[in-house]
Amino acid sequence: MPPTPTTPDSPPAAAVLPAYCDFTVFGGTGDLALRKLLPALYHRDREGQLPPDHRIVGVSRSPIDTAGYRDLVRTALATHVPAEELEPAAVERLLARLHHLELDAHVPDGWHELHGLLKDRPGADEAVRVYYLAVAPGLFGPTCERLDELGLVDERSRVVMEKPIGHDLASARAVNDAVGRVFAEHQVFRIDHYLGKESVQNLLVTRFANTFLEPLWNSRWVDHVQITVAETVGVGKRGPYYDHAGALRDMVQNHLLQLLCLVAMEPPTYVGRETVRDEKLKVLQALKPLTPADVDRDTVRGAYEGYGEEVGHPGTRTETFVALKAEVQNWRWAGVPFYLRTGKRLDHRASEIVVVFKEPPHAMFPQSEGSTTANRLHILVQPDEGMKLHLTAKEPGPGGIRLRPVSLDLSYATAFPQRSPDAYERLLMDVVRGNPTLFMRRDEVEAAWTWVEPILARWAQRSAELEERPEPYPAGSSGPTAAADLLGRDGRTWQEPDQ
Ligand code: BG6
Repeated sequence: MPPTPTTPDSPPAAAVLPAYCDFTVFGGTGDLALRKLLPALYHRDREGQLPPDHRIVGVSRSPIDTAGYRDLVRTALATHVPAEELEPAAVERLLARLHHLELDAHVPDGWHELHGLLKDRPGADEAVRVYYLAVAPGLFGPTCERLDELGLVDERSRVVMEKPIGHDLASARAVNDAVGRVFAEHQVFRIDHYLGKESVQNLLVTRFANTFLEPLWNSRWVDHVQITVAETVGVGKRGPYYDHAGALRDMVQNHLLQLLCLVAMEPPTYVGRETVRDEKLKVLQALKPLTPADVDRDTVRGAYEGYGEEVGHPGTRTETFVALKAEVQNWRWAGVPFYLRTGKRLDHRASEIVVVFKEPPHAMFPQSEGSTTANRLHILVQPDEGMKLHLTAKEPGPGGIRLRPVSLDLSYATAFPQRSPDAYERLLMDVVRGNPTLFMRRDEVEAAWTWVEPILARWAQRSAELEERPEPYPAGSSGPTAAADLLGRDGRTWQEPDQ
């Protein structure tokens, strides 16, 4: 057994939960709070992870009192928690922790009530205060300032930011500066919920707690990598936000680049609060910057038919689909394309990373007996978590060797029948414990914007000068044809699920 490394920046044997915690959600009646955050806190409470003095304060402009908020959350839990996981006693326990305050961040009224609620409680002097900003990013800075003026921020306080963090590099810096004037970087938790997914965390374990992959995980043996996040849903009620953002900002700048980082990063010495983030940052900094000619050749933007009408903006040039080719310029990955694609209203929902290995260097078996196919490792992120390794095998039977593709399948649901927690469950408890390992550091967010910006700039230029629009694709299809051409040109094809 190798010795366990010393871990100077590891989370303090952290699992230690603070005895007193006030978890305040700005945007407490919003979709994210009701659909994800409160169900996640319910599950953790049900598992006995919330100490008795853990309170949850919903802050919103809704004119409701605490009783009304409890009713709203009760309905949300009934909607978003599977019936077999709803335990009446656990529901009541969570509801009893809830408070609601009506407050408009732009108006001074209401803040003194928040002050009173957070300060006049047993254990106020040692309470951990979490401020979760599930509101428009324009409110991040002003909300933090107000909290500071009221004396509600101390060394134990934490702030959680939902994306989007900015619209481009300059606005991301402005948000980070504004929040950074009140909270030190170690108190800022920038959520990318993909990092809380079990299968995404398992990617690190698969790579670094096993030995067989690491010798192959480089340009010598890997032909290319594909990262796909395909959704069947459209933009729904989020039109106003989405039409301003588009798929590149909404998905690629954060989720897809974070997945790329976890695939491409070097092994850190140990899993500590900064070490993994240091390695991810190096990957982002090694991404080959795209020139305008690269953007024209290596990126594709599409929009599903009917998107403009759906968001009430028929002339929109916002993309709902992106495919692109990236390269990590370092010793390990030089020359290996990373193809990324994501889109809405596609023909299936699947998030998957596929590592395609090179063909065997020498074809030993005659063509007539079947052909070898390149080995592929599929890391299935969702909806079904697992892994598939595609190999070439001999078909049983006499009369020579016939080659057939086969697949080794690992389904997490079968291997680990226990309930798989939602990403937010892990992430929210990490905030309460003060463990930032799975959150994006400021320099990572800004490095990701730095890489994405030339794409945004070139697309904007082409839209303005050439009146170019994203390529339309039918809803329920596999996306624009240019996405297939992007790989076809390199003699490759996208790997679809179950291929
Ligand atoms: C969010 C995006 O961050 O991720 C949404 O804003 C997207 O547009 C969602 O639908 C996808 O998350 P998941 O966990 O359903 O893959």
